[in-house]
Amino acid sequence: MKNLDRLFAPAFIFSLICACSSGGESTRPELPDPTVGGAGATGSENPDGTADPLTPGGPAGSGGSANGEGVNPDIPLTGNTAGGGNTAGSGNTAGSGGSGPTNDLPAFVAPTSPDPDIFTGAPQSLRQAGTLTERLIGTAVRANRLNNETYTTAAREFSYVTPENEMKWDALEREPGVFTFANGNRIVQFAEANHMLVKGHTLVWHSQIPAWVRAMTTRDEALTAMERHITEVVGHYKGRVHAWDVVNEAFTDGNNSRLRGADPNDVNDPNNSNGNNGPDSPFRRLIGEDYIDRAFTLARAADPDALLFYNDFNTEGTNAKANAVFNMVQSMKQRGVPIDGVGLQMHINASGGVTAQQLTQNIQRLTGLGLQVVFSELDVTLCGNADIAERRQQQKTRLAEVTKACTDNPLCTAITFWGIADNDSWRNSTCNGGGSEPLLFDTTYQRKDAYFGVFDTLVTAGAATP
Ligand code: XIL
Repeated sequence: MKNLDRLFAPAFIFSLICACSSGGESTRPELPDPTVGGAGATGSENPDGTADPLTPGGPAGSGGSANGEGVNPDIPLTGNTAGGGNTAGSGNTAGSGGSGPTNDLPAFVAPTSPDPDIFTGAPQSLRQAGTLTERLIGTAVRANRLNNETYTTAAREFSYVTPENEMKWDALEREPGVFTFANGNRIVQFAEANHMLVKGHTLVWHSQIPAWVRAMTTRDEALTAMERHITEVVGHYKGRVHAWDVVNEAFTDGNNSRLRGADPNDVNDPNNSNGNNGPDSPFRRLIGEDYIDRAFTLARAADPDALLFYNDFNTEGTNAKANAVFNMVQSMKQRGVPIDGVGLQMHINASGGVTAQQLTQNIQRLTGLGLQVVFSELDVTLCGNADIAERRQQQKTRLAEVTKACTDNPLCTAITFWGIADNDSWRNSTCNGGGSEPLLFDTTYQRKDAYFGVFDTLVTAGAATP
């Protein structure tokens, strides 16, 4: 928990409480333009000037309601399969040397800008509003956007970053034992220069893995590969990554939720034809159920100070899949497996899906095990039949209610959004003649009403924080 000390230190001042306690937009102080640079270093923003290796492969759509509780974002991601256009490798492999980016993670350099979490008066950003209630407020970032000043300025609204793709297996280890850290490094350096913490995402996942991982056939091969990957990656970022998503999306959807890869036929499931999103996990299939315990134990050994999370989607409430995750992490805790928390992805919709009550119940039972809960990938699509103004209002209300579900529980420690502006979102699809508008900033990086659903809720919670 070492790094949370900073957040939990009494370094912030509650003088704004009076100004904000009456709530409502009329008393909200004016915020600075999120696209105009102000205080703060920007870090190493594309120092090499290389072309962008991270071309998004297209939006994933808004999904359907898989089981009456949330959407199912685990749908084919055209163009993003292993070896596709969304990996970080080309030109950055170890040993390419010379003028290109290298694998070496430069030593930590203390930021020269003032710490934004130490402030007087009203909060000027989401992160400052989060500081009032002792929560990290995060966003997914893309290394290829760090040379865009509008993007980096808006990114400084946040205190926590998750690389959207740059620390996935297909980005870091495209060939067995050949690691490519340059893009992940850039994100870590950007975070450090701007007083942000980093969530590493993700060590063991059935998706966005290179073809050679999917082609493995023996238990020994899989164990060796998993051990090497976790040890190298966590070791590389030791002391620089606050928390890791150690295992991602291990469970299947639906009422008979079970571990992916538990049925030998999973490998042949036609839904798996794109190599990404069927029920198969080569790790479960080849290693056995204990691959999850092993992954956490390896991660803890490689960096004893990093917080270790299990992360999944459609697990926000109390459906069969959420219950399966609860049972697993309860058993892990009982058996002394080193797990610190559960990430609820929260790819949700403005209307329908998990209720605030179900979410609260799930947060309560998970934190009751002594685990932290974080919202790890929050986005809220607008798709639906109601009038657009009404749907935007629903989105704001929904964001306020889920933010409150987090701030109501002291062990819900972070809320991370899956991107900054709508046009950067993986769920930025078309619906009902408009866009799905899933994030807090519009396509010009201006704050939307949705932003204030979060901001105002954090401020209100901060006023009540002793
Ligand atoms: C998504 C990224 O946002 C896309 O850019 C990429 O093409 C596919 O993956 N669950 C996760 C995230 O854990 O890693 C996924 O991110 C979204 C669903």
